[in-house]
Amino acid sequence: MMQETISPANGPLTGTIRVPGDKSISHRAVMFASLAEGTTTITGFLRGQDCLSTIRCMRQLGVTITENQHEVVVEGRPEGGFSEPDALLDVGNSGTTIRLLSGILAGEPIFSVLAGDDSIAKRPMSRVTGPLKMMNAVIDGRDKGRLTPISIRGGGLTGIHYMSPVASAQVKSAILLAGLQADGRTTVTEPHVSRDHTERMLKAFGVQLEQNNTSVSLTGGQKLKAADIHVPGDISSAAFMMVAASIIPGSSVTLENTGINPTRTGIIDVLKRMGADISLHQERIEGGEPVADIQVNYAPLQATEVSGSDIPRLIDEVPALALAAVFAEGETVIRDAAELKVKETNRIDTVVDQLNLLGASCSATEDGMRINGGTGLTGGIVESYHDHRIGMTMALAGLVADGEVTVKDTDAVAVSYPGFFEDLQTLM
Ligand code: S3P
Repeated sequence: MMQETISPANGPLTGTIRVPGDKSISHRAVMFASLAEGTTTITGFLRGQDCLSTIRCMRQLGVTITENQHEVVVEGRPEGGFSEPDALLDVGNSGTTIRLLSGILAGEPIFSVLAGDDSIAKRPMSRVTGPLKMMNAVIDGRDKGRLTPISIRGGGLTGIHYMSPVASAQVKSAILLAGLQADGRTTVTEPHVSRDHTERMLKAFGVQLEQNNTSVSLTGGQKLKAADIHVPGDISSAAFMMVAASIIPGSSVTLENTGINPTRTGIIDVLKRMGADISLHQERIEGGEPVADIQVNYAPLQATEVSGSDIPRLIDEVPALALAAVFAEGETVIRDAAELKVKETNRIDTVVDQLNLLGASCSATEDGMRINGGTGLTGGIVESYHDHRIGMTMALAGLVADGEVTVKDTDAVAVSYPGFFEDLQTLM
């Protein structure tokens, strides 16, 4: 198991980088291309462990996928449909793979079993298996379908109107993907809008769907047609560099070609509210997704409160945001974020515990956390708990602590941001 020791930065972060491709968009590109008629070429694909798990699973279903450094080529839906996999579909650490793939498999007349690593084994699957059962899918799993492994015998679905109790793009996408194979109409309504990459990309693949406030509907039986996809840089990866540049005095960093889909830009809005100096340049639309070069200059930060509809727009950025809050003046409060408990780790506990280990003053609450800013951080040895975003947050803590920070199990970083340590080096 790898570990990294990070020394305090002895100067500002400066320069320009391109963070790797968006994880959410990369997963969808491979899955939707596998459903489509014709060959899809994907550029900018994130070669992170999670997205490679998606490629592996789709290959097990008989899809021909070739990859090189620059592109991924997906041959499309095999003639005669997906083949019944002769072994377990292993999703590794990837919640997006297991949840979206469950939606696809619920509509296919084959039997399959899905499972992943120790983290996946703890994460709730009933949020997806529940509604898919309502659509008539035959699904089972450990603890009555709540936990992995889950088994699916698909086919014969009927459309539903599902009122989701959580704002989750994974849940929404799974139901919509099943809905494509269902009789009649399928609608998902969420408490707040979650990331809409599925809706945008399905449209690019020729699917008609209707969006209305927090609802999305489509009619079953529509065919996907191959469409070349360009994946922009992942704002969730860029967020680490935005926070680092905001808290290391004198920094000026540009993050080229980063996705700025409005369902994902909560981190920019909240950091700006805290006083961050962030500007967008060369705003453009690429393949249905808004993209920009993001420039971040150091600026002193003030505490803020984050809640409600902001939360799904920055859920993956809370660990990085918590670090920014340690360096902000005043008390930052994050609420309505109980979803953090069911991510790769319980990120309320893992963030609070590890920042406190380095001398921060944070406390966990029922649905979020409170962070007393201005304490600074000391050196020490911290865990990543094999959670990529905890690993990267604690590595950044090492840059701003007053002593060395050793982060354990940093190989987890490759789940979403291979090259993270090299990119940091480029900016130092
Ligand atoms: C994702 C949705 C979010 C996010 C995850 C990726 C997606 O999860 O945390 O990293 O690609 O749809 P939820 O849908 O569970 O909120």
